[in-house]
Amino acid sequence: MAITYDEKTKIFKLDSAHTSYMIGIVDQEQFVGHIYYGAKLRMQDALYLMRTEENPFVPSVNNRERCSFMDTFPMEYPGHGAGDYREGCIRVRTKEGHSVVSLTYQSHEIVDGKPALEGLPASFAKDGECQTLILTCRDQVLGLEAELLYSVFEKEDVITRSVRIINAGEQDIYLTKVYSACIDMDDRDYEWLMLHGSWARERQIERKKIGYGKQSVGSVRGESSHQEHPFLAWMDPQTTQKQGEVYAMHFVYSGNFTAQIEKSQFDSIRVTMGINAEDFCWKLNQGEAFTAPEVVLTYSEAGLGNMTRNLHDFYRNHMIRSKYAHSKRPILINNWEATYFDFDTEKLLAIARKAAELGIEMLVMDDGWFGNRNDDSTSLGDWFVNEKKITGGLKHLVDGVNKLGLKFGIWMEPEMISPDSRLYEEHPDWALAVPGREAALSRNQYVLDLSRKEVRDYVYESVAAILRSANIEYVKWDMNRQLSDMGSFALPADRQGELYHRYVLGVYELQERLITEFPDLLLENCSGGGARFDPGMLYYSPQIWCSDDTDAVERLKIQEGTALIYPLSSIGAHVSVCPNHTVGRNTPFETRGNVALAGTFGYELDITTIPKENQDLIPKQVALYHKYNDLVREGDYYRIASYQENHEYDCYLVVSKDKREALVTFVQVIGRPNFHSRCICLQGLDPEQNYRIEGKDRLFGGDLLMKAGLLMDDLWGDAQSRLYHLVAEAQDEIK
Ligand code: DGJ
Repeated sequence: MAITYDEKTKIFKLDSAHTSYMIGIVDQEQFVGHIYYGAKLRMQDALYLMRTEENPFVPSVNNRERCSFMDTFPMEYPGHGAGDYREGCIRVRTKEGHSVVSLTYQSHEIVDGKPALEGLPASFAKDGECQTLILTCRDQVLGLEAELLYSVFEKEDVITRSVRIINAGEQDIYLTKVYSACIDMDDRDYEWLMLHGSWARERQIERKKIGYGKQSVGSVRGESSHQEHPFLAWMDPQTTQKQGEVYAMHFVYSGNFTAQIEKSQFDSIRVTMGINAEDFCWKLNQGEAFTAPEVVLTYSEAGLGNMTRNLHDFYRNHMIRSKYAHSKRPILINNWEATYFDFDTEKLLAIARKAAELGIEMLVMDDGWFGNRNDDSTSLGDWFVNEKKITGGLKHLVDGVNKLGLKFGIWMEPEMISPDSRLYEEHPDWALAVPGREAALSRNQYVLDLSRKEVRDYVYESVAAILRSANIEYVKWDMNRQLSDMGSFALPADRQGELYHRYVLGVYELQERLITEFPDLLLENCSGGGARFDPGMLYYSPQIWCSDDTDAVERLKIQEGTALIYPLSSIGAHVSVCPNHTVGRNTPFETRGNVALAGTFGYELDITTIPKENQDLIPKQVALYHKYNDLVREGDYYRIASYQENHEYDCYLVVSKDKREALVTFVQVIGRPNFHSRCICLQGLDPEQNYRIEGKDRLFGGDLLMKAGLLMDDLWGDAQSRLYHLVAEAQDEIK
């Protein structure tokens, strides 16, 4: 049993393979408190950790100091305005204008399996893989109920949390804040880790000390964003890849979020995560329910590397639904960096012809094939083929590409509308805007109001009609601006505060419809590069475009931050041309390929014009992809060295689950003069196995490679790289 409840002590214990999470019900009023989260424990009797046994502040004993109790007690789901001055998880506005909420235990249920969350992406499980605790709390005055959901994924050491708020009271109410999870615990001089970034610089790792007061990351941009990521971890300052305690929280949501750590006067920390409360106000009529998105929690006693592997396994097995989750994706060539808007049927067929020769498997036609779009100033919303460019029509092109033996994929940006479009002429009120105020343009475009059903239906039919019109097997769903001017012409005044969340629900509904009607479609989400790389999107698409920065060296950092929490199978990565279009850097073609192999792998350059020696390398890279992708996609990822930290070289390794095969990627980013070859200690191998390294005429013990290290080949120059393929081989003991 993953979840147990002890009637006598009123303690819930949630156990995964290596972790325990404990919740206690305390005092006559039945406050729901957080007792413990961390390494697995034998004992359930741990109530003393909540300091209530001998503590005079418990309200039933000392109600005159109720505020002190409320402000120190480790709450599972803290309310608002009733004496706990730390960050709360829920706040309301009643018809009288009050905001106080205080939730106490009402009932509970332990069920097998993982409940779906209405309208939201959420993890799933097969029979026997997961148990769920539904803990119902109630505010006795408001009649508001909160179902706290905890699902335990034993094998992956993951607990997911979400909350369902039910208005069982006697008046309609406004929710002005609903977070999804909270953890209160003592601070042990922890540091926290966040992923910050910018366009072309997504998910850079930053680690810092937790100080008193509040420290947070968040987004109010309407999407998870390039800038800050819906993830945070906190850990011992000594925690490394290989050792030390680390806790992580990750939000399964693609809109505004807050992730915060607050260190209190008493050296406790409160970690909270949820929909950003800024501009959020949800009207909950009597009898209605509101579901808050899921948070993924994991704890590792064995360093950041183990946290990473927990999350990779969890997302691969319990979040990515696509039929492609565990299969090799076609190697694609995308024409964006090859042609930008300047292409036609002939040009695309020329790329496809060359691609077929070189072993590439799919052509993706990017932005610029519809309406009158020859630059970014026009036509979003007009999803009809521009036959001046795509002469003969879309089906003609797709058939032509198919005849060459390639699949065909297409780019769309369904959520957007250009002011210069037929759609805008007909429906100016479909764009998000505040009446009387000119909405802010970004990349020359506005955002469609996806809270409106008629808009969603139009968008859906536009996308579906294109897919029905030809044999299109892949869609890149892009989103090139963030939300602003949050006004809907359809929502009443007291529901405008629902717009941000309704927008995200609209995106989810559209993608759900799409993959339901086209179950074989390979969907790749994208947002101006990697601004929508989040677990919510993984529920709909098995891969997400990681960044518009395709420079191999920049990608080392971006992919390191991304792979810290996302499986390599989900990371969109392409080989592009040099000098690189974003940073102007030159890197060897071989290194560009080696770096892209740690992702979905593809090309994004004009292969008809690149030098012959680069063209000749493509079939070799294609062969490497076919040889290694099963391992890269399904294996365990170990981060060995970080260019971000050492400013010189990068190294990571993927080991098969049975430890019989491994692939090491080493990149010497900056050459170093007068230096012996570097010796790198590997991880994750079986110390008892002997490995043959391709190209080396001997066997190496797993213990030797991990304890003493593997000598890297001497490399000459910057951005040089090597792949080392290890295969276990039975042999008499090596001496
Ligand atoms: C942003 C994407 O990240 C690019 O790959 C490309 O599709 C452009 N948008 C097209 O406008």
